[in-house]
Amino acid sequence: MNKNILILIFAFTLMISCKNETNSNSEDSESIDTRLEERYKKMVSYALDSTSFPRSVNLKTNTIKKVPSKDWTSGFFAGNLWQIYELTGDETYKNQAKKWTAFIEKEKFNDRTHDMGFKVFNSFGKGLKIEDNQVYKDIIVKSAQTLITRYNDTVGSIRSWDFNKKRWDFPVIIDNMMNLELLFEATKISGDSVFHNIAIKHANTTLKNHFRPNNSTWHVLDYNPENGDIRMRVTHQGINDDSSWARGQGWAIYGFTMAYRYTKDDKYLNQAMATASFFLNHKNLPEDGIPYWDFDAPNIPNEPRDVSAGVIVASALAELYGYTGDEVYLNYSKKVIQTLKSTDYILSDEIEVPFVLDHSSGDWSKRSEMDEPIVYGDYYFLETLLRLKAL
Ligand code: GLY
Repeated sequence: MNKNILILIFAFTLMISCKNETNSNSEDSESIDTRLEERYKKMVSYALDSTSFPRSVNLKTNTIKKVPSKDWTSGFFAGNLWQIYELTGDETYKNQAKKWTAFIEKEKFNDRTHDMGFKVFNSFGKGLKIEDNQVYKDIIVKSAQTLITRYNDTVGSIRSWDFNKKRWDFPVIIDNMMNLELLFEATKISGDSVFHNIAIKHANTTLKNHFRPNNSTWHVLDYNPENGDIRMRVTHQGINDDSSWARGQGWAIYGFTMAYRYTKDDKYLNQAMATASFFLNHKNLPEDGIPYWDFDAPNIPNEPRDVSAGVIVASALAELYGYTGDEVYLNYSKKVIQTLKSTDYILSDEIEVPFVLDHSSGDWSKRSEMDEPIVYGDYYFLETLLRLKAL
């Protein structure tokens, strides 16, 4: 055959195969988007109930775990609807988000917990991003006033939990960093620096005491409230006291990135980067970016993953990329989203529950919600989508 004809055949074959590939890629992303939209519809049509917020689902029994507003997870469902509104522009989501958000209001008086940020800021705070609403602002400031009643100046921290009093005197968990966003915003809204200053004290104490030499974080520190001494460094949800519980690492990375946003204090940025480095370079972080529930779980690779930890870090690193320009952070966020937009993770259309993603892990200490769809996995997934879109 003539050489020119051969070249022409080769070029034609290449053209056809590229075209097919383009078609199949665009079909794939179209069908993923359709699948996500189907999941969103199930969330917006989920029956309103002021006393019962969807938290997770056991897919084996098809039982949705529902919780009252005092549960630490109650604000996420409203937050999810606000974020889907931001992604789609469809007013139906906003209207439903407002209704679920209103059910959280009474938590502004609840001083029995440190989880005020998770409950109030992830619902009212997300709403405030969408619309300027004085009622929401007042609720955030009142909630911040309630939260700071748990602050002890001798320790320099906000007390996390009130349970387990026989063992702990003044427990502070790494998760508590997440509640500081509510305090920073309360100062911006009210002009009262008390909230901002307490947030800084808490962050500084956490920075000083919570991190190991390798920049992983312990879960629980128990303090002596009379003199501020550390009584113990332990775990509650990890496999053991010295292990690296994946979501805890996520709270640390997210918490210190967010603290940097409000303070521009380099020591917070450096800690976020150092713990991110521990997380991203860990030998037990799987190729697809979704961590096992604890980096030291004994049966890796036969251990449940924790999608929630992956998306908390993905969201934080999208923000950290904005401060550093380091592509490593952006690449991780993108990889996590790419992995999650696969059939293994997005729940199938046939499953009638108000969640998007499978395979988050809740609380191993109670053998509860391991490898299940959980509301906060969806929340940080949606937040990552929005943050990547904004970049
Ligand atoms: N803040 C509780 C948890 O991460 O499970």
